[in-house]
Amino acid sequence: MKVQETEEPANILDRLIRYSDSVRLFIKYTISKKMLYLLGKNVYIHPTVAFNIPNKIRISDDCKLYQGVILNARSSHEIGIQLGKGVKIHEYSYVDSYGGNVHLDDYVGIGHHCIIGGHGGLTVGKYTMISGLTYIVPANHNYDRRNVPYLHQGETCKGIKIGNNVWIGAGCTILDGVSIGDNAVIGAGAIVSKDIPENTLALGVPAKVIRQL
Ligand SMILES: CC(C)(COP(=O)(O)OP(=O)(O)OC[C@H]1O[C@@H](n2cnc3c(N)ncnc32)[C@H](O)[C@@H]1OP(=O)(O)O)[C@@H](O)C(=O)NCCC(=O)NCCS
Repeated sequence: MKVQETEEPANILDRLIRYSDSVRLFIKYTISKKMLYLLGKNVYIHPTVAFNIPNKIRISDDCKLYQGVILNARSSHEIGIQLGKGVKIHEYSYVDSYGGNVHLDDYVGIGHHCIIGGHGGLTVGKYTMISGLTYIVPANHNYDRRNVPYLHQGETCKGIKIGNNVWIGAGCTILDGVSIGDNAVIGAGAIVSKDIPENTLALGVPAKVIRQL
């Protein structure tokens, strides 16, 4: 089998489109960075990071936002998304305050492809690690009425609190109203629907404590 060694050279139209896309991206990135509510020192932001409503986003010193991250700060609060010192958000994760707010305290790490919502409020304590593909959703649709589509029944939002130095394994779902205590570990794939006390290891669907740490 013959291996093709070179790529087909791009025609002038392709090149122009690619060039104008890069220019558009660069302008959007530069403008929204300038509009951020607060931008700390020594912050790394990959050029593909997108900010919606940047004037409600606060980014402290030493934060790192990697490729494809989206911060969407639609919120009725003054600040929709607040990142403490040294927070890292990995590739393609989506953080959306959904009308509430998201506060990630110092040195929180968010893995890749996470969805982090702030509907009823989300606080995550210092040094907590949230592994890839995790979904944190501090809201539920109401579904009591039979004659109205769920879409139009509104939402209940209680909020989620995650303590300091928690490790949430890959692919977990954290549901509304839950608190996870300091130093807890949540096994990969768990669905957390009830509070998890501090210093415990919890696993499974729904997540249950299997031992003290
Ligand atoms: C939770 C975890 C840390 C536990 O590891 P551990 O202390 O070595 O625990 P063990 O492997 O001894 O498992 C204890 C029991 O729980 C089960 N178990 C382990 N992890 C589980 C999980 N995530 N969900 C359900 N059951 C699990 C084991 O099969 C074992 O069952 P058994 O007693 O019937 O044999 C680990 O299993 C885990 O989920 N790690 C997450 C890794 C990850 O997501 N990394 C992302 C990058 S940071």
